[in-house]
Amino acid sequence: MLSSTNHQKVVLVGDGAVGSSYAYAMVQQGLAEEFVIVDVIKDRTLGDALDLEDAQAFTAPKKIYSGEYSDCSDADVVVITAGAPQKPGESRLDLVNKNMKILSSIVKPIVDSGFDGIFVVAANPVDVLTYATWKFSGFPKEKVIGSGTSLDSSRLRVALGKKFNVDPRSVDAYIMGEHGDSEFAAYSTATIGTKPVKVLAKEKGVSEDDLAKLEDDVRNKAYEIINKKGATFYGIGTSLMRISKAILRDENAILPVGAYMDGQYGLNDIYIGTPAIINSNGIGEIIESPLSADELKKMQDSAATLKKVLNDGLA
Ligand code: NAD
Ligand code: LAC
Repeated sequence: MLSSTNHQKVVLVGDGAVGSSYAYAMVQQGLAEEFVIVDVIKDRTLGDALDLEDAQAFTAPKKIYSGEYSDCSDADVVVITAGAPQKPGESRLDLVNKNMKILSSIVKPIVDSGFDGIFVVAANPVDVLTYATWKFSGFPKEKVIGSGTSLDSSRLRVALGKKFNVDPRSVDAYIMGEHGDSEFAAYSTATIGTKPVKVLAKEKGVSEDDLAKLEDDVRNKAYEIINKKGATFYGIGTSLMRISKAILRDENAILPVGAYMDGQYGLNDIYIGTPAIINSNGIGEIIESPLSADELKKMQDSAATLKKVLNDGLA
C-alpha cells in the first residue's frame, strides 16, 4: 500500500531521453511530491533536477533532486528506464545482453535499500527485463509492472482515431503480446463508441487489408521514428506517467501493461502485454481478453518468441 500521507515519492533510474521525458510528464501533471533521479551520469541528474525545478512555479511544488539507490527505501514507485536504446536496424530483442547486465546491477541495490513499492520497467526488451526485475527482486508478481504494450496500444488508438476521425481517447483498442515485432492488434475486442471496430470498418468502407496495414504501421512505428530522429521518448514518457498516475492515485484503471501470466491465455511464467487493472498494489487483476482463436495463437506465438530470448538472456 502507498503511504497514508499525501506525500508520494517516485525514483527514476535512467535519466536519458526516455527517463527525462517521463520526469517532465510527471512534473507537468503535478504527480508525486518527491521525485528523485538516479543515473550513472551524475551531472545529467543534477542538471535535470535543476532544469525541472524551474517548471514548478507554473505547475506544482515538488522536491526534485539527484539521488542514489538508498533513496528508494521509502519510495512508492521506482521506474527503470536505464539501458541502451536501439540503433537504426536493431530490434528490441537485440538489446537483451547489454541491458540485462545493466539491470542486474540496478535491482539489487534498490531491494537492499528496503524498497517495498512498485517497480515499473520500460528499458528494452521490456517484457524480458520486467521478468528479470521480478526474478532479481524476489518481489510478488503484482508489484512488478512492465510498460508492455502501453505505448503500442496508444499508437493503435491514435491510428484508429485518425482513420475513423474520432478522438483517440474514445477508441478502446489494445495491442497485445510482446512489446516488439511479434505484437498484434486485438481487433476482435476493439470498439469505438460502442461499435466493434470490424463492424464500423465495414460501415465506413475500411477493408480488412486497411486494418492489417494500420496494424503493421503501428508495429513498425518505433523503427520509423528511430530512423528519423534516433530514438523514441515522448510517447513512452507519457505512457509511463499514465501508469504511475494509476498507481499513485489508486485508480483501478484498466491499462495495457506487461503483466505476469499465471495461466491466462494458456501462458505461464512470463511477462507479456495484456490489459490489467492498475492500482496502488500494482497489478490488481489481469483482464483476460476474449481473443479470437487466431489472436490467441498470435499471443501464444509471441510468448514463445519471448520465452526463447528470456531463457537465453537469463542463462
Ligand atoms: P538513453 O541512452 O538516452 O538513456 C539511457 C540512460 O541510462 C543513460 O542516461 C545512461 O547513463 C543510463 N544508464 C546506463 N546504465 C545505467 C546504470 N547502470 N544505472 C543507471 N543508469 C544507467 O536511452 P533512452 O532513449 O532513454 O532509452 C532507454 C531505454 O528505454 C532503452 O532500452 C530503450 O529501448 C527503452 N525504450 C522503451 C520503450 C518502451 O515502450 N518500453 C520506448 C522507448 C525506449
Ligand atoms: C518504442 C521503443 C523503441 O518506441 O520500444 O516502441
